Amino acid sequence: MQIHSATFVISNTDVNNCPQSHLPEYAFIGRSNVGKSSLINMLCRQKGLAKTSQKPGKTLLINHFLINNEWHLVDLPGYGYAQAGKTQREKLRKMIERYCLLREQLVSLFVLVDIRHEPQKIDTDFMEWLGENGIPFAIVFTKADKLGRQAIKDNVEKYKQQLLETWEELPEIFVTSSEKMTGGQEILDYIEKYMKNE
Ligand code: GTP
Ligand code: MG
Repeated sequence: MQIHSATFVISNTDVNNCPQSHLPEYAFIGRSNVGKSSLINMLCRQKGLAKTSQKPGKTLLINHFLINNEWHLVDLPGYGYAQAGKTQREKLRKMIERYCLLREQLVSLFVLVDIRHEPQKIDTDFMEWLGENGIPFAIVFTKADKLGRQAIKDNVEKYKQQLLETWEELPEIFVTSSEKMTGGQEILDYIEKYMKNE
């Protein structure tokens, strides 16, 4: 798939106010600062489409983008931002959970994980929660430009091994760098395959 049009639609704090369309939807989620908004901008080839920041906690709303007049791409707030304060964190957790559970148009989530780190409990717990609730997801490793080829391979392998301790089957896995603009086409082709099967 090629993205030939991408426009911002609306930002919301609650799933009930999200667009009332029947277009299929794909959402990007992960820890704060993992690179969700940067990845979205890379996929859409528009630098300022989703707001990015060096400081964690930039995206605090559910942001809908219309792609090719065909589907919605959603930028979700990051989870687990320690400095956000308990009330704020709790509010975001509810927003994310309600979106994941109640949004009927949601086809698949992409859970973003920084490739440099060991598997983090907050991410694997979230994936388990998705599994328990029957919500499909793929894993997207981000910031691959920060590691060499072998380290990338090793870290992905380590992650897979850990997942296999709790999962029978591995999800689809992508390795990306928004900095180097790599790995995006694979994600778009994956979405395209899904759309053809709908
Ligand atoms: P929140 O909205 O705060 O949850 O963050 P986010 O997940 O949307 O992250 P964002 O895209 O704003 O990026 C956070 C920081 O990581 C920014 O300084 C980006 O420039 C940097 N970053 C994102 N992707 C990459 C990447 O592929 N490589 C490198 N080197 N830096 C990246
Ligand atoms: Mg963001």
